[in-house]
Amino acid sequence: MDTTKTVSAPVRSALGSVDETYYTLSPDGGKLPQTSAPAIIAAMLDLLQLAPGQRVLEIGTGSGYSTALISHLVGDTGHVVSVEVHPDLTRRAERLLHADQRTNAHLINGDGVKGAPAQGPFDRIIAWAAPRSIPAEWTHQAVPGALMVTPLNVTDLAKTILVVRARRGRHATAITVDRLLKAGFVEAHAEVVDQWMVPPYGVDALVHDGGQQPWWLSAAWLRAEDGRTVGEAVLERLIAEGRPVSGPLAEAEDAAGFYAYLLATRPEGLTTAALGDPGWRIGYASPAGAALVGSDDAILAGDGEAWHALTGWADRWRERGRPGFDRLRPELQRGEHGWLVRVALAD
Ligand SMILES: C[S@@+](CC[C@H](N)C(=O)[O-])C[C@H]1O[C@@H](n2cnc3c(N)ncnc32)[C@H](O)[C@@H]1O
Repeated sequence: MDTTKTVSAPVRSALGSVDETYYTLSPDGGKLPQTSAPAIIAAMLDLLQLAPGQRVLEIGTGSGYSTALISHLVGDTGHVVSVEVHPDLTRRAERLLHADQRTNAHLINGDGVKGAPAQGPFDRIIAWAAPRSIPAEWTHQAVPGALMVTPLNVTDLAKTILVVRARRGRHATAITVDRLLKAGFVEAHAEVVDQWMVPPYGVDALVHDGGQQPWWLSAAWLRAEDGRTVGEAVLERLIAEGRPVSGPLAEAEDAAGFYAYLLATRPEGLTTAALGDPGWRIGYASPAGAALVGSDDAILAGDGEAWHALTGWADRWRERGRPGFDRLRPELQRGEHGWLVRVALAD
């Protein structure tokens, strides 16, 4: 994506003023893993509509690059409070931002899902890791009219993350959500983690194969009393007899559109999974087997029921005119600790 053509003038100016490699490269010349793609950073900062003088809360400092961009955008009269869970990253970014004379950036080591109550209130909140819901802490630390941009799971299944933009109304409980953006992010975690293959929440069944690689499933039907055991049996079956098949979409069909349709319709049996490798999959699973689509192929195990269900979903998607991401409409739901965002198909 050529960000320079699509982003607003202030964000373009910030991208031109902050040296990305200064923040994102490690001493060995490799890229720090905790950096988002500049195109995604630019698109999310655009959604945030930053202006000089604003007070910003950032969750997930990572390399410090986005912190420096925000520092530039809010200028000397504004400031950014950035929370990072990993102490080494907080120290590293603090050193770099200080040497780059970003005096309006303040770093905190901790769990950004709780916000930064002592430093608020904030005009803007942006996160680079997905909380379980838009935390009530953020809406309480935001001023009326504040914009919040964050990745979030839009179903109760693991790895169904989109970026959402929410706005706080007059009261902390008055929230609206108006924008969605496609982007991959990891889940927010309250402690330092040393692996990324198993999400910190949303996984219902997990086994390890002979090479100690994790295989997991996430599905509403696995949340029944004996769900975990049944899910483990399905995973063992996938390890033993899972085979690649082509389909259910033709090569020319829009796989991202089908994915968006599944997020919006959440048909019974909808399941997300990872099968021993870093990629993850979505499809149908039941105690009798599974048919799970990845970026290159589908993996099938068990009798034909799972494949029949998955191809049936694809047929219904075609019958409805192959609705895609641009047809998704965000909807808010009150969750236990904040606001859940779900998506529906706009008419
Ligand atoms: C995609 S990276 C950050 C991208 C970064 N802002 C950049 O400039 O490219 C996500 C960061 O969020 C951090 N993180 C994850 N959960 C967190 C939490 N609960 N609170 C604060 N930071 C968290 C991770 O340690 C990681 O550094």
